[in-house]
Amino acid sequence: MEITKTDEKLLKEKYQNDTSYLDKLKDNYPVQYLIGDVSFCGYQIKVNENVLIPRFETEYLVDKTYKLIEKLNITSPTILDIGTGSGCIAISLKKLLPTSIVTALDVSETALKVAKSNAKLNNVDITFFNQDILNTKITDYDVIISNPPYIAYDEEVAPEVKYEPSLALYASDSGLAFYKKIVDNLKLINFKLCALEIGATQKKSITAYIKKNLPTSKVICETDYNNLDRYIFILNE
Ligand SMILES: C[S@@+](CC[C@H](N)C(=O)[O-])C[C@H]1O[C@@H](n2cnc3c(N)ncnc32)[C@H](O)[C@@H]1O
Repeated sequence: MEITKTDEKLLKEKYQNDTSYLDKLKDNYPVQYLIGDVSFCGYQIKVNENVLIPRFETEYLVDKTYKLIEKLNITSPTILDIGTGSGCIAISLKKLLPTSIVTALDVSETALKVAKSNAKLNNVDITFFNQDILNTKITDYDVIISNPPYIAYDEEVAPEVKYEPSLALYASDSGLAFYKKIVDNLKLINFKLCALEIGATQKKSITAYIKKNLPTSKVICETDYNNLDRYIFILNE
C-alpha cells in the first residue's frame, strides 16, 4: 500500500526502532489505524479497529448538511447522527453549529467508546446512545444524518477495507436495509432535513423508496468529487 511522506514521518516518530508496522503495511493494514488518528473537517479524530476510518467523501456530507441547515434557517437544530462510529460527523456538526443539540447513536459499544473519547478530545457536548436502529424507533429531530453500512454482502471490497469492522460496512437487502429503516422512521416523526451518504449505485432504489413513502418531501441528490451519486438530502416541506 502506498503511503505519503507525511504518514511515513508520523509512523517513524511513533514506532521509532520497531519496524513491525512495515509488515502490516505490506498486508494492506490501514495506515490510519497504525497512526491512530485522522483529520476530519479539520478536527482530530482518533481511530482504532472498532471504528470505520472517516472518509474524505463524508466531509462533503457534513459540509453540505451544514449549508442546508443555514439555508433552511433551522436555528439551534436538534441533530441525530445514526451510526456515529468514531463520532466524526456528530463532532464536526457540533463544532460548526455550537448552539445545536447533537445526539449520536451506534449499535457498537466499542465504537461508542471511541466516539465519546473523540467528543472529549474536541471539547464538545454530545449525547451518545447505544441503540440498534434496525430494531427501534427514533423520536423527533430537526436534522437526521447518517452514513450507514451500505455494502451488499456479496460485493467486492478493497483489501484494506477487510480490517475495518464488518458491522460498519455491510447491510442486507442489497445494502439498502438501513436507508429503508431510516425512511420508515421518518414517516413517523417530525423532521426538517435528512442527510444520507449512499453507495454509488444506490440512488435509484433509495429515491424510489423515499418517493413512495414520503411523497410530499423534496429529494436532492448530489455527486461527490468523482462525479459519483453519493448523497441524498430529504427536505420535509
Ligand atoms: C459506515 S459506518 C459510519 C461511521 C461514521 N458515521 C463515519 O461516517 O465515519 C456505520 C456505523 O453504523 C453502525 N451500525 C451498524 N449497524 C447498526 C445498527 N443496527 N444500529 C445502529 N448503528 C449501527 C456501525 O457500528 C458503524 O459505526
